[in-house]
Amino acid sequence: SAASNPQTRHKIVVCTDLGPALPLLRDRRDIDVVTWTENRCCDRNWMLQNIVGASGVVVCFQNAVDRELVETAGPNLRVVSTISVGYEHIDLNVLAQHNIRVGYTPDILTDAVADSAVMLALMASRRAGHSYAFVKNNEWPTFHWTPFAFCGPQLSTTTFSPTPPCGLWNHTLHLHPPAPAPSRNPHATNNSAPLTGSYPSRPSTSPALARDSDVLFVLAPGGPTTRHLVDEAFLRLMKPTSVLVNNGRGSVVDSTALARALAEGWIWGAGLDVVEEEPHVGPEHPLVGEPRCVVLPHIGSAALETRAEMATLTARNALAGVLGQPLPVALDY
Ligand code: DGY
Repeated sequence: SAASNPQTRHKIVVCTDLGPALPLLRDRRDIDVVTWTENRCCDRNWMLQNIVGASGVVVCFQNAVDRELVETAGPNLRVVSTISVGYEHIDLNVLAQHNIRVGYTPDILTDAVADSAVMLALMASRRAGHSYAFVKNNEWPTFHWTPFAFCGPQLSTTTFSPTPPCGLWNHTLHLHPPAPAPSRNPHATNNSAPLTGSYPSRPSTSPALARDSDVLFVLAPGGPTTRHLVDEAFLRLMKPTSVLVNNGRGSVVDSTALARALAEGWIWGAGLDVVEEEPHVGPEHPLVGEPRCVVLPHIGSAALETRAEMATLTARNALAGVLGQPLPVALDY
């Protein structure tokens, strides 16, 4: 293979935008870098055409790395480097069969995701989506302000809950202001006790978690073990004043059940950075049409500094992989 034969030139196929980190690969004289340059998700056909003979491939969570891709690449492929902490787009069984390593980007996006989780919690509880649309739709000029219009629950006196599997992603929620007040609730956390610690390695959702949470943060990874962890039965147990936030993967929450929960008032609101049907989430989607739901287009880690760090690590993982060196951050699978 290319990794063991020093005469062979390595090829890395970069299927996603690495921004300021691209020169780490492109400037190497010993490596051919083939880059997808359009500012949109990489075409599958382009990937299949270009991956032939590659030693490494750089992907994002929207690019499936499956048997077809690996077999099309051929025997040189040594590393898959994904610019994400999630890896359910990668078929690990196939990669194991071919002894291909995986680089990914855990930890460095934790703070950015935590910021966005708090943002979504605040937006959903205080009806920011609804009130922002109100202004955009030019309804303010005819609005007669009243003390209880657009009100929502106050988060500073609230119980925040991690879902048990959030530890799988090492997401530590450092909750920035507003600091939740100390709570007597067993699931509660606050600034002095961020959501760290050991969580069960197998995902589970307890009825108590649903019943006691004022704000429930879903940070679980996707895949078959977490699919619809938050379903109709779970949502029916939640408080009518509670807020659900999903920064993990859309598949963890049953969209149909959530739309019903919001429409019928089983819960107060929802803030979603990920949706089961993404990216096919247009105005006709029931959650987009729901005034108590705020939907963002999977931007949880989209802080400039974080994305630059993710891109750098992704490039370094790819480079180390093709050169046969230890990956800076390898997925242990
Ligand atoms: C991840 O890292 O898995 C996010 O979903 C994309 O940044």
